[in-house]
Amino acid sequence: MNWKTRITNLLGCKYPILQGAFAGFGNWEFAASVADAGAHGMITASVSRTPETLKEDIRKCREATEGTFSVNFTLTHSLPWNEMLEVCIEEQVPLETAAYKPDDLVRRIKEAGLTWIHKAARVKDAIRATKLGADAVIIVGLEGTGFKSQEQLPTMLSLVWVLKEIDVPVIAAGGIGDARGMLGALGMGAEGIMMGTAFMATKECPLDDRMKETIIQASFDNAVLRHRVLSIADPKDIEEVMRLRGTVPTDQWLLMLERVNLKDPDWRNTDSIGQGGNSRLNMVSLAAGAINEVKSVKEFVQEMIREAEEISDGWSFIKNE
Ligand SMILES: Cc1cc2nc3c(=O)[nH]c(=O)nc-3n(C[C@H](O)[C@H](O)[C@H](O)COP(=O)(O)O)c2cc1C
Repeated sequence: MNWKTRITNLLGCKYPILQGAFAGFGNWEFAASVADAGAHGMITASVSRTPETLKEDIRKCREATEGTFSVNFTLTHSLPWNEMLEVCIEEQVPLETAAYKPDDLVRRIKEAGLTWIHKAARVKDAIRATKLGADAVIIVGLEGTGFKSQEQLPTMLSLVWVLKEIDVPVIAAGGIGDARGMLGALGMGAEGIMMGTAFMATKECPLDDRMKETIIQASFDNAVLRHRVLSIADPKDIEEVMRLRGTVPTDQWLLMLERVNLKDPDWRNTDSIGQGGNSRLNMVSLAAGAINEVKSVKEFVQEMIREAEEISDGWSFIKNE
């Protein structure tokens, strides 16, 4: 089957599947494993931390794979983004911005002609990014994890809405973990999918086995997971965090907002990043329900593609037979 879309053309990957960024563990080795499987890898710049290390990481990744990858800038972190952008331009690696306004970087990105994708949780932010000149957008629906928003809609509705509003290719994310989720998103008009949680349950993911076991064991009706991913944050916490805006440094405030949206009871304590709620389920999305086994990245991607091809081959209802 031909998996060519405007996203595979833009990024040069074999399949329209992108790896999500991962604060803390989205390193070049993992990105290379994903790229090697024909999907599109992602180096999370906050893991590289400095422009020098980012440059080394990009080069190591390139040496390790003939596949394709991007670099993610999660703009809630305060890092030397301008210098890191120069590294991406020198190395000609596509850029994914996420979690806050990319405005300060846009002039240079466009001037250098760098491929640029923006990831948004709200449709209005995705539309805004295209007005700034993004080559594609990733829309993360409510079912997903990462930076969430009170105004987020489910993945399906976000897709329908954003596709009505913009012409650049759209990548769907949020709750996708298997061939059916991928085909659903592509069937609705997305030209690629991004997965975070599902890639975490692979052998190459640099997380401990207990985390992977948590994903395998989680089901769609897990009460903790459902509450954390789907429910709305406590309005009192929202009010309080909004009052704090401007009184603490922006990066710290954005972190607090993120954690309020993730229903982390310890959100005021910015020292305890990544430990909120003391549950491993705090890190993952409802896509965990679709994952039953820890596989290598290659097995995972290839089986997903094979299953998607089998399912779509059987779609006699859309064929003129
Ligand atoms: C543990 C974890 C850490 C993440 N860290 C980041 C990050 O630093 N920057 C970012 O843009 N997205 C981050 N994300 C979001 C993913 O890149 C992706 O958008 C999201 O996982 C998609 O939803 P899914 O998990 O349902 O597939 C993270 C996701 C997880 C699960």
